[in-house]
Amino acid sequence: MLRTTAAAIALTLAAGPALAQDGAQLFNMQCKMCHGGSPMGPALGGVAGGPVAAKAFAYSPGLKNKGGTWTDANLDAFLKAPSAFAPGTKMLISVPADGNRKAIIEYLKTLK
Ligand code: HEC
Repeated sequence: MLRTTAAAIALTLAAGPALAQDGAQLFNMQCKMCHGGSPMGPALGGVAGGPVAAKAFAYSPGLKNKGGTWTDANLDAFLKAPSAFAPGTKMLISVPADGNRKAIIEYLKTLK
């Protein structure tokens, strides 16, 4: 618990390329099990800046009908509260800490 808090504080203070590195670590722990080639979730290469729900994946109608682009703001809103962003979404895990979301989003931008 203490460790998690310390990591969150460190992430909030970090900036630039270090952020993406921290984001990679968070991604490996919290996202990769579904977004690392598993059928549980869509692949995320090029997702940042790209269209919402456009991969070969059986999306929920909630996300499919959302439309739009994965801007930083949309990614942030989705990761903060997936069901508020896209009611009925199949992705239920969220990232409550602002700094962690920022780091993960920077990392997502490196995925091609
Ligand atoms: C338990 C499996 C699971 C985990 C863990 C998970 N996701 Fe997802 N994710 C999904 C599913 C399923 C969808 C599709 C949701 C839908 O169709 O409503 C999705 C969709 C997404 C999308 C939208 C993709 C698109 O093509 O538009 C992004 C971005 C995303 N996840 C990021 C993340 C990040 C970042 C994490 C880690 C913090 C994460 N996910 C953790 C299952 C997961």
